[in-house]
Amino acid sequence: MSQSIRTQAGGSLSGMLQVPGDKSISHRAIMFAALADGDSNISGFLNGEDCLATLRAFRAMGVTVDTLGDTELRVHGVGIDGLHAPSQPLDLGNSGTSMRLMAGLLAGQGFDTILTGDTSLSKRPMRRVTEPLARMGALIDATEAGTAPLHIHGKRRLRGIEFESTVASAQVKSAVLLAGLYAHGATHVVEPGVSRDHTERMLSAFGVTVGGSGLHCSVAGGQRLTATDVQVPADLSSATFPMIAALVTPGADITLEAVGINSSRAGVLKILEMMGAEFSIENQRAAGAEPIADIRVRHSALQGVEIPPALVPLAIDEFPAILAAAALARGTTRISGAAELRVKESDRLAAMASGLKALGVELDEAPDGITVQGGALQGGTVEAHGDHRIAMSFAAVSAAAQGEIVIRDTDNVATSFPGFVPLMRGAGMRMEQFDD
Ligand code: S3P
Repeated sequence: MSQSIRTQAGGSLSGMLQVPGDKSISHRAIMFAALADGDSNISGFLNGEDCLATLRAFRAMGVTVDTLGDTELRVHGVGIDGLHAPSQPLDLGNSGTSMRLMAGLLAGQGFDTILTGDTSLSKRPMRRVTEPLARMGALIDATEAGTAPLHIHGKRRLRGIEFESTVASAQVKSAVLLAGLYAHGATHVVEPGVSRDHTERMLSAFGVTVGGSGLHCSVAGGQRLTATDVQVPADLSSATFPMIAALVTPGADITLEAVGINSSRAGVLKILEMMGAEFSIENQRAAGAEPIADIRVRHSALQGVEIPPALVPLAIDEFPAILAAAALARGTTRISGAAELRVKESDRLAAMASGLKALGVELDEAPDGITVQGGALQGGTVEAHGDHRIAMSFAAVSAAAQGEIVIRDTDNVATSFPGFVPLMRGAGMRMEQFDD
């Protein structure tokens, strides 16, 4: 049995909304606090399945984490060399961030670990991390296809490398930098485009010297982390769903509170602006190492756009929602240079193409992108393919559809956005989750 979401057209959307904590930052907060000397308090932690998988993995390696409140944790750091061998394989569920970052972090430990995941995670490409880590001296066994389970051998001597990545990926960059903390000498990463810089910012907050600028960053091995408190901003990727919902729903006016607006991943704001979205960024301030703001969004007449490929890595998680909005925009929207979308929690180009077609949208799918003819969205049934962001993207635009939409296979919404349906209902949308 799996859960589905049923939506009705014609709802409304208003009020102040607080979306859950940032997924990328919550993962890193657990990892770095666990490796630090001393105790760190984390507030605004995302209690989504992905981050809970990271939390369970560190507990299994001997880290004590106290639950202080709904989203508040205290992590008792064990120091850079203080983790213990887990007694079982670490199951990281659906979470690519957990697996890729931990592959780097565990490559330099004095013990072996085995990392496993669900069906989707077990299909995702891991060579992009295992190859550079092998160059550093790591020994990691994967399947012949280069996928999980990963067997990470301990007691390896790692050495710093100069790594030129072929993908703009924060997960790859972070895996190599984290292994770099355990390596002899300096580790350098150069990327082909900007990827989110949460690792660099948070390592600095934990007292690590991170070098480089622009597309280059580096760490010297042998540094220790010093405990610090982390305030996790609301997740811009989660905020995108109510934002898109407000943009396409007549009369809507909402404000999303304390959302992370780090420019290395805020491409969605630029793209929506290009589409004619009316929103304002208010009360800009800092939450520790990250910039945050309140975002007020009103119903807007959206127009189709040609999305510059340079914006793709800056909005990589937001394309399902952008494509859903494009179906309701005037004119044509085209995304190219986005083949990475095919290796996310699902093949997101294929999943959005088949869902939008089922709702009567005309489109052309290419190997690295998609062209959507905007206009109207009919009712119908779509498959989320177990992908949280596919499920929420169709739900977000449902008020402006011409009929009921049933979205199937939506259990994984809880990986990044626990409480999505109640939050959207509370704001005035008509949707319910039910067991299929
Ligand atoms: C993430 C990086 C992105 C993103 C993922 C979270 C991270 O992946 O899609 O949801 O926390 O570093 P890539 O860096 O592999 O594109």
